[in-house]
Amino acid sequence: MDAPVETSLLDTGAQGIIGKPLDRIDGPLKVAGKAIYAAEQDANTLHGVLVGARIGKGRVAAINEAATLATPGVIRVFTDFETFARNPQQGGEEEAPTQGVREIAYVGQPLALVVAENLEAAREGAEALVIAYEEEAGAFEREAHAAECETPPDASTPAHSSQGDLDRAMADAAVTIDVTYTTPSQSNAPMEPHATIARWDGDNLILHTANQMLASCRKQMADALGIEETNVRLIAPYVGGGFGSKLGIAPEAVAAALAARELGRPIKAVMSRPQVFEATVRRSDTRQRIRLAAGHDGRLTAIGHETLASNLDGEDFFEPAGIATHFLYAGENRSITHDLVRLNLTLSGSMRCPGEAVGMLALECAMDELAEALGMDPIALRKANEPERDPEQDIPFSSRNLIACMDRGAKEFGWDRRDPTPGGRREGEWLIGLGMAAAARSNLMQRSAARVTLRRDGAVIVETDMTDIGTGSYTILAQIAGEMLGAPIGRVQVSLGDTDLPPAAGSGGSWGANSAGSAVYAACEAIRAKLAGAMGASPGDLTLKDGEAIAGNRHVRIADLIDGDLTEEGAIRPGKTDEAFTQAAFGAHFAEVAVNAVTGETRVRRMLGVFAAGRILNEKTARSQCLGGMTFGLGAALTEELVHDIRNGKCVNHDLAEYHVPANADVPQQEVIFIEERDHAANPMLTKGIGELGISGAGAAIANAIHNACGVRVRDYPLTLDKLL
Ligand code: MOS
Repeated sequence: MDAPVETSLLDTGAQGIIGKPLDRIDGPLKVAGKAIYAAEQDANTLHGVLVGARIGKGRVAAINEAATLATPGVIRVFTDFETFARNPQQGGEEEAPTQGVREIAYVGQPLALVVAENLEAAREGAEALVIAYEEEAGAFEREAHAAECETPPDASTPAHSSQGDLDRAMADAAVTIDVTYTTPSQSNAPMEPHATIARWDGDNLILHTANQMLASCRKQMADALGIEETNVRLIAPYVGGGFGSKLGIAPEAVAAALAARELGRPIKAVMSRPQVFEATVRRSDTRQRIRLAAGHDGRLTAIGHETLASNLDGEDFFEPAGIATHFLYAGENRSITHDLVRLNLTLSGSMRCPGEAVGMLALECAMDELAEALGMDPIALRKANEPERDPEQDIPFSSRNLIACMDRGAKEFGWDRRDPTPGGRREGEWLIGLGMAAAARSNLMQRSAARVTLRRDGAVIVETDMTDIGTGSYTILAQIAGEMLGAPIGRVQVSLGDTDLPPAAGSGGSWGANSAGSAVYAACEAIRAKLAGAMGASPGDLTLKDGEAIAGNRHVRIADLIDGDLTEEGAIRPGKTDEAFTQAAFGAHFAEVAVNAVTGETRVRRMLGVFAAGRILNEKTARSQCLGGMTFGLGAALTEELVHDIRNGKCVNHDLAEYHVPANADVPQQEVIFIEERDHAANPMLTKGIGELGISGAGAAIANAIHNACGVRVRDYPLTLDKLL
């Protein structure tokens, strides 16, 4: 956007549906099994099963297909793995996969696709495939190879940045903290595995595929196959979660497309759960050193945040753990760095709330450690370091209500009942503690387009290739269009998830609602301008409600105002306001835990998240996003750890039985409160992204509560009972 918006058309609330906690309009379809996911789109396909490498580093020496081809029902083995061995997951423009390389970089790297008449035969044939390897010594442990780390190229977060003199400030300060936290690899583990049905119609490829960002993946797929983008169509009306692992084209999609072209028949390829863990993406493990220097008044003079993450050779993505450290607190001397160790582990990439999700686990606990060293209340310490402007860029925040979130949360949660002395509160065997942490998540806008049609009968049709990954895109886009065009929610039909529709940013980086929503807004604005013209009124004086156009004291049925359907396209792109302001959503997390003094077991009793994220488009779907994020944070704090075999990097716990995502019993009580806020620089709806905000800081609040409960400060996540004893 190029200039701040003074008033939003959503402010008028004529239709009265924006912000309301409406049920998801796709909910009944999902409950009834009528929302058709990628793998369910066609029952009459061949089946492809991927075969992954069983060594961590080396080469394929030979592949013996005899037993596979002898399996009844098996049609062909595609070992043209060079083409899909690389996993172009990172989004954006990817170079075409290299040819002729038989190198293996990690256990699970796709090497072949076995295609058969049915799934059972394909699986049996895949099991029977004999691959001989030449194994080499690989690098499987971050710390063993830390000395060989390298600095990656800058991404949206710079790899290295500094201001002032951190070392000198540390030497001069009254109080300092110098602590190192570690976080393990984590898995996105979406409920719906990665799945694709590939079908060719002449030169045109049609993919039903589980994917978050259709428009950019269409280009990736075209590049991977060496065909034109216009010959590729991606369809994904429903996606069962992604958490970042479906931002890019996954290997099964490329494999299915290639095989379907060769065989001239549609092919369905669905990853097994272990393959989702091994062959898509992981969140990198990290080692984070936090240095804080402060005066006795708690004011920070310096912040240092050094991150060491890992990725495959040749991959530039680094977990941007220091991303929020750039702007969260004041302090003149700052150094924020990210370095990469090259490891032979599953590609690391974006996982929900990349950066803040694990960065805040370190920063917000170190702040708690500083508060303790100063004998200060953790909230008072944060208030003492509230910057008026972005402390590095010296530009204003577009909106920032961190203090309001902390104050409101403290009041609602009963923060005054916290005993600052660890171990001070005991109920039988259980030590009770309270903790808090700040939340911050960068707010992003991405180029997006949408088409909206207002029919003569007042019904509204919204079309964009935006996805709904379970977040509520269908519902909020219907609310935006309904609000602006005077239609009740039941009269708005939303079509998503098809690259034949105008290209949107897709679901990622918490930008989906902002970006696709603003495109819908712009299209509705254009329709309103036409209607106002037909009324002889200015658009600002026009109210649309329940199929009527109202200007002054004139009421006209929309049907009487237009001859036929009125269709307009709308678009939004990042602009000057995205440079002129630091944009982020903020919040405050509170947690109460009980730590068993005998077993070390932690039980989270209560969590509260208070968030300021601009206008809330739908209180229910927004709250659900925050609850899910807080649960993600709980997992990061207590249960989630992707364990790699140190001999070959293999993901040992590659399923949901062994990789512990929190279940209902782990989250007895969670509450979410939204602070009223409008962000005039973010977009014409005055909203900010919320999809990842709930994660940022949630785990740190739990870790801080554990320390308050029992006095043990564990800096190696997850905080399992063995580490607390
Ligand atoms: Mo998100 S990690 O950009 O899906």
